Amino acid sequence: MDRIRISGGRRLNGSIPISGAKNATLPLMIASLLTEDTLVLDNVPRLADVNLLQRILGNHGVDVMVGGKRLGETAYEGQTLHISAARIVDLTAPYELVSRMRASFWVIAPLVARMGEARVSMPGGCAIGTRPVDLLIMALQRLGAKIEIDGGYVVASARDGLKGAEIDFPKVTVSGTHTALMAASLARGTTVIRNAAREPEIKDVADCLNKMGARINGAGTAEIVVEGVARLGGARHRVVPDRIETGTYAMAVAMTGGDVMLENARAELLQAALDVLAKAGLEYNETNRGLRVARNGGPLASVDVSTAPFPGFPTDLQAQFMALMSRADGTSRITETIFENRFMHVQELARLGARIHLEGETATVEGVERLKGAPVMATDLRASVSLVIAALAAEGETMVNRVYHLDRGFERLEDKLAACGAAIERIAG
Ligand code: UD1
Repeated sequence: MDRIRISGGRRLNGSIPISGAKNATLPLMIASLLTEDTLVLDNVPRLADVNLLQRILGNHGVDVMVGGKRLGETAYEGQTLHISAARIVDLTAPYELVSRMRASFWVIAPLVARMGEARVSMPGGCAIGTRPVDLLIMALQRLGAKIEIDGGYVVASARDGLKGAEIDFPKVTVSGTHTALMAASLARGTTVIRNAAREPEIKDVADCLNKMGARINGAGTAEIVVEGVARLGGARHRVVPDRIETGTYAMAVAMTGGDVMLENARAELLQAALDVLAKAGLEYNETNRGLRVARNGGPLASVDVSTAPFPGFPTDLQAQFMALMSRADGTSRITETIFENRFMHVQELARLGARIHLEGETATVEGVERLKGAPVMATDLRASVSLVIAALAAEGETMVNRVYHLDRGFERLEDKLAACGAAIERIAG
């Protein structure tokens, strides 16, 4: 297993290209199941999760062609995928695949909407608390799908097609909203989705579905109206920039000091996080190239944060922010309201000298003057990148073990940071 070695203490200066969003790419790839025509996705990040989903879709009979390099292109540009689900040959998503990536459960929606049937393994345990699928199932049932649980599989059927309905989510769910949107696009009649997730990735997927011929209004707000259509066609779509990657590098710069241009990043995708970072001492301004972030001298101020669905502070930046606050002046309280148990980074940060006290869903972080390098273990995607951020400011050497979590969600993290002056290298193992 690969490891990453970091020697802390260097400022970051230069530019970092922000990749396409993982959390938009995955549902966009899944949406290809809705049509027999080809869906072309540009700006797709090179990530382990994208490769895995490619395999999962391949099992249903989907062909994915990865476009070659074009003249004038740099290695930093995302890839182009040509995805064709012309003939779906298998309606089952098996346990071995779904258990490795939760989002692959979402194939249930396009499969039942287009083919009238789907058999998808329940995702099973996950390192960050219980992440149920009851609301996804509720949405499909509202649209007229019959649901049975059989041997650990969710079997959804709608032989005569799905029917438009009113779907009221009792809590905001990204997965539920994606599922409802995809299924309702091919349902007969009108669907109204209330208390919908407003994440930019929902809007991105809805924009792509509309290019494919869907009639979706209101994506990005809490109420989405979908007029079902009989069939969807091909389209070409560019994946929205990754706001979590953007926020992560902004925090890395806040941590080390320096001045970095986050190419292609857009402030409106993470305004809540930028507001918090500005209070902590980060300067930022938006240009036509992207988002420039800088911190030049001065201590970090401590800020209290509570995670919330978009447009609030994202849970996917909570671990990174905790790493940042571990070096701030004073004490900050960080509350996680989306996922239980999303605090696995606390113990590892403590190994670097962070002082964090956990009580229920709130972590109290007492800023310390210095962190010290140590061997640490990455436990999930966001936790592992928080360790990298802490290590960039720690004295001496930190070895981050088990970095395959990082590769699931961050494209060439060590190259991007090294190009800005960080002493970071991957050790193949
Ligand atoms: C997505 C993101 C993930 C992010 C999360 C919250 C992707 C691939 N993943 O995950 O990175 O951290 O949104 O922004 O886009 N819930 C239920 N029942 C359900 C579904 C969800 O109770 O059927 C609960 C979850 O346990 C959680 C909350 O709703 O407490 C939010 O989950 P959800 O928004 O669905 O997250 P994901 O789509 O899994």
